Amino acid sequence: MSLTAGLTAPTADSAVPALLENGPIAIGARTIPTRYFLAPLAGYTHLAFRRVLRELGGLGLATTDLVHATMLVSGKRKSLELIETHPADTPLSVQIYSGVREHVVTAAKWLEDRGYRGVDINMGCPMAKVTGSGGGARLMCDPDGACRLVADTVAAVKIPVTVKMRLGWDRNTITAPALAREFEAAGVAAITIHGRTRSQGFRGTVDLDGIRDVVAAVDAIPVIGNGDVVTVADAIRMREYTGCDAVAIGRGALLDPWMFRRLGAWHEGADAEFTPTPEDQVRFLRRHLELMWEQHGDYSCLMFRKFAAWYGARLGIPEDLEDRLRRFTSREEFDGIAAEVAERHGQREMTVATALIRVPNGPVEHW
Ligand SMILES: Cc1cc2nc3c(=O)[nH]c(=O)nc-3n(C[C@H](O)[C@H](O)[C@H](O)COP(=O)(O)O)c2cc1C
Repeated sequence: MSLTAGLTAPTADSAVPALLENGPIAIGARTIPTRYFLAPLAGYTHLAFRRVLRELGGLGLATTDLVHATMLVSGKRKSLELIETHPADTPLSVQIYSGVREHVVTAAKWLEDRGYRGVDINMGCPMAKVTGSGGGARLMCDPDGACRLVADTVAAVKIPVTVKMRLGWDRNTITAPALAREFEAAGVAAITIHGRTRSQGFRGTVDLDGIRDVVAAVDAIPVIGNGDVVTVADAIRMREYTGCDAVAIGRGALLDPWMFRRLGAWHEGADAEFTPTPEDQVRFLRRHLELMWEQHGDYSCLMFRKFAAWYGARLGIPEDLEDRLRRFTSREEFDGIAAEVAERHGQREMTVATALIRVPNGPVEHW
């Protein structure tokens, strides 16, 4: 698979158009070093994954998994775990959700008081357990309520407040452009827009025209495009076509953890299609587990499983070892598997992942 099909890397003679700079970007008073962000993927984008990606280079802003505002403030262990961070885990925003305005406001303030530097409000989650209580994408159905929630949150904190949303609830209610304009007026520092509606779930392809309409709707704040970016060419195309200021990559970062580094290389006119050495790939595998272990100890054996299918194909791990990565029960066992991977690396076709991230399926009404 070519990551840059149809693209020419910029060179000193062919400067990157201003539109496509990879230079720092301001999100409120924060300066984010690159234009390629990590989109939150609940269950994946934990501290360890964020750190191991940052170590590869090129990643701008990362955001935590979505955290329930009320659970967070009441100190629920699971929520506190989700916001755990580290000096190397910067810049970071914490994503919160709730349908209750006061809860979002309180959680934002709570985060600011504890030194967090950015809050992102989730208005895109399609899952019934989130939308059922008025949160996630459901907020987009109540523009007045959503605007009050956002305005009150912005007023309560000094740190930048951002919003991540979808195009609308369904294709008959495309509310994102109007909401983006309102949110900007309310003082939001940036908008991330996933180019699908809630009814679409994860089906179909991302609607670049929909993202472009959101870019056109705001005056000055950055718009971060999101959806289906799995290659360098996808990211550049999204920026060129929509004019978005940055791109958030979710599943693409699992398919290829070097994606952010590749994008940085592309902007520098360097080789974006480099192949990480076998040593780099095994180091990445070990490092991810090591960082996970720092935070979760033995529980990492379970947590790591869902990464095995992604990494198996990407990191040249023979199928039998990928299978063992789904079943290991101790650190010693993992270390043994990693050593075997190092010995037998590449005894497998570099194919696409054997199992894609599980997204909810069936009728979206039942999610
Ligand atoms: C397993 C999974 C978990 C997700 N969790 C979140 C989340 O916690 N917060 C959020 O705003 N979006 C979440 N999303 C949506 C992604 O951030 C992103 O908008 C979507 O996957 C499209 O981008 P991608 O094609 O780059 O993955 C999730 C998506 C998936 C597949």
